[in-house]
Amino acid sequence: MSTLPPLVIIGDADLMRPQPAVENAALDTPQFQQKLEQLRHAMVHYQGIGIAAPQIGWAARVFCLGIDNPSSRYPQAPAIEFGFWINPEMTAASRKTVWAWEGCLSVPGMRGWVERPAEIQVYGLDERGQPREARFAGFAARVWQHEFDHLDGVLYPQRVSHGRWLVPEVTLQNQHTWPSGWPSPGAAATPPGQLCDRA
Ligand code: NI
Repeated sequence: MSTLPPLVIIGDADLMRPQPAVENAALDTPQFQQKLEQLRHAMVHYQGIGIAAPQIGWAARVFCLGIDNPSSRYPQAPAIEFGFWINPEMTAASRKTVWAWEGCLSVPGMRGWVERPAEIQVYGLDERGQPREARFAGFAARVWQHEFDHLDGVLYPQRVSHGRWLVPEVTLQNQHTWPSGWPSPGAAATPPGQLCDRA
């Protein structure tokens, strides 16, 4: 069992800067494989549905994602197959966008209503350094883009268009008691883990 690293949270300079690519030569090393295991371990321990290397203090373009249903932090989210992405690139994104409540282990206690492309085409390496390509739609596309942003030092609050769309996480438990249409019609009607095609 690898040691559990502490989470790096918003305000940390290293978290908020672009990360360096992983060199090919590093991929096969035991140290790198250990780091991957540590990242997966941290995601499971902290109950994330994705986690990026800089969130555990590892300066590298690496993230993993995956949801074993049900997720404690996103009970309405569908299952997503676990996967590592190394030096990933987004090669295409749909013009159609969708909204969702996002949270982040590095932004504790908060949720934001964020608009992103509905479908993406992506490329990268897997944990053995083999090229992998995928097309994602639905909630998996959402999680992938959130994690990908971490590699450029971007945290989701930067993607929130209005101040009222950033709320304390606990208020999502009272979503059914919110005033009608607050903080927006789509946001009021969408539980965390689901997508909405309107603001
Ligand atoms: Ni995050």
